[in-house]
Amino acid sequence: MDLCELEKSSEISLQEVASADTAQALEALRVKYLGRNGLIPAIIKSMKDVPKEERPAFGKAVQAWKASFEEALQAKIASSTKENHVECDLTQPGMWYEPGIKHPLSRVIEETAEIFGKLGFTVADGPELENKFNNFTALNTPPHHPSMDRSDTFWFGDDCLLRTQTSPVQIRAMMSAKPPIRIICPGRTYRRDTTDATHSANFHQIEGLYVDNLPKKPVSLADLKSVLAYFAREMMGDSVKVRFRPHFFPFTEPSVEVDFSCHVCKGSGCRVCKDSGWIEVAGAGMVDPRVFKHVGYDPSAVSGYAFGFGVERIAMIKYGIPDIRWLYENDIRFLRQLG
Ligand code: DAH
Repeated sequence: MDLCELEKSSEISLQEVASADTAQALEALRVKYLGRNGLIPAIIKSMKDVPKEERPAFGKAVQAWKASFEEALQAKIASSTKENHVECDLTQPGMWYEPGIKHPLSRVIEETAEIFGKLGFTVADGPELENKFNNFTALNTPPHHPSMDRSDTFWFGDDCLLRTQTSPVQIRAMMSAKPPIRIICPGRTYRRDTTDATHSANFHQIEGLYVDNLPKKPVSLADLKSVLAYFAREMMGDSVKVRFRPHFFPFTEPSVEVDFSCHVCKGSGCRVCKDSGWIEVAGAGMVDPRVFKHVGYDPSAVSGYAFGFGVERIAMIKYGIPDIRWLYENDIRFLRQLG
């Protein structure tokens, strides 16, 4: 090794110390350069082979390398042990995690379950991935119905889809039990909508179903109306009015759409209710005899009503939220205001 090579090795060794970041790595470098079989002792041993006239300069350079390497190594060991030392001051105040708030959609769902719970309804559950029979056929949806189109529903093959409504849970409930049945089912639903202020491809509904045995326990449209009016008052306050409008759904006959009086203008007309004084919140009706047939019930032995609420709708009315997207953005500044 000549003087030039020595300089190079010295430089490399110092770089290695600088980039070593663990105690093990530093120890390995100490062994490599200073250990019994290390590079620096080996060079010192081989000094006798260096030409006499070069020896003093070479010796000086080796000693200088050894000194600077040791110094760099010690400094690095000292600083890394300092970094790894965790200060623990027990007099410091603890970490403060601010309590969050329940999401408005969860609040509406939980309140709904509580309100219907008082009326004897239990909460049922169903999968978001449904088959065609439960989501459409058993609900008396004709094959040409637009909702069955590929462009309206998320299909996976011919018989598997993301449920477009919570109504298939009605089918599951009736196929797995005999009347009386009193259930609500909150959950996610999916449609191929483009997102804007009032639409989202994924939204939430709360389905309701009450079926009982004839002739002892006939269920009527008046029962449906009184239950939904009770729900409206509990959810929105005593001043809310409820309106039924004739409508069509394949799985109910007669069918209605349910409006709540606008909470903002109290019915006199404003931007939120588009000057009508009313806001549509649900579809409902008397369960169609064909649906009873599909689930294996005798339509002359039972009667019942069903309804389906839009959770986002109710949350937007209840908390005065003008844009559905705010419900999904998880913006803490928005959510805190509802706390
Ligand atoms: N499934 C309907 C929809 O998504 C809502 C609905 C209407 C549910 C009438 C019902 C009902 O249970 O009886 O638009």
